[in-house]
Amino acid sequence: MAVLTLAERASLVGPLDYKVLKTIYELNSNYEYVPYSVIINKLGLLERELKEVLLKLYNLKLVSKEKVLKETGYRITFAGLDTLAIKKLYANKVLNKLGIIIGEGKESNVYFGYDFSDETIIVKFHRVGRTSYKNIRKIRGIKYKEDWIKLTIENAEREFSALSCLTNNYANVPKPLGQAYNAVAMEYIQGNELYRTNLNNPEEVLEEIISNVRIAYQYCGKLVHGDLSEYNILIREDGKPYIIDWPQWKKDDEDLLFRDLTNILYYFNKKYEIYKDIDQVINYIKGE
Ligand SMILES: Nc1ncnc2c1ncn2[C@@H]1O[C@H](COP(=O)(O)OP(=O)(O)OP(=O)(O)O)[C@@H](O)[C@H]1O
Ligand SMILES: [Mg+2]
Repeated sequence: MAVLTLAERASLVGPLDYKVLKTIYELNSNYEYVPYSVIINKLGLLERELKEVLLKLYNLKLVSKEKVLKETGYRITFAGLDTLAIKKLYANKVLNKLGIIIGEGKESNVYFGYDFSDETIIVKFHRVGRTSYKNIRKIRGIKYKEDWIKLTIENAEREFSALSCLTNNYANVPKPLGQAYNAVAMEYIQGNELYRTNLNNPEEVLEEIISNVRIAYQYCGKLVHGDLSEYNILIREDGKPYIIDWPQWKKDDEDLLFRDLTNILYYFNKKYEIYKDIDQVINYIKGE
């Protein structure tokens, strides 16, 4: 089978396929691989019908399978989760059509999308533990039940909640438009990452970044970004800086705040020879 895009795969998923996929997802909280017999009991479909649907979902790589005892078990894949998210964002009137992929990051895939007024939006599909699930498991010491599906969805929820508070407090971040499963739909910021931009007003931009870090801290319960860098700041075409990529935020973590600011101040110092005293900046952010 040719390699289909995510949008193409999602459009091939009909109502019955969707129902089976959603059921597998739900049962995955109890079973690492959901046995065939459990699926058929739950859905009450004819054998022939269910087998056909499962084969289709498997061919579209929306589920993976493994032998469990004497039968086959099924598990939703990241692409399967993406598909549930696309359908739900559509039902919620957030996303009319998914577009092309614009970025494949370590922990997410970012796509263009179009809303119901045909405006361009961004859909970010989180993917936790894609490269090394085993390591994440080891590092975070998670048990099976708190597996990558749950962590991935939690990341989307965390990013959406941060963007919501920040937007309500007039910070320069993409406006959140909706969240479903592992996906966050948000405003499209047309521009480039800070590291790819030559600023002609670097002092102003740095001031604006700092004042956004301050809004997060002061108005969103001591929210700290946690991965602030020239890669996670977009410079819009009119020169306004936007802070993106929020899932790893922490609250009331002074070491992390210090690290975020060190990164940014170092970048502006190195590239634009601007010097700011970090303690003064931190006092300003904390309102002391
Ligand atoms: N709202 C947006 N508007 C425009 N472009 C965006 C938006 N959100 C994300 N992008 C693009 O997608 C890229 C990756 O997004 P983001 O940093 O949120 O994800 P990530 O998982 O951290 O990816 P990476 O590992 O590459 O940092 C960004 O560098 C940017 O180019
Ligand atoms: Mg990023």
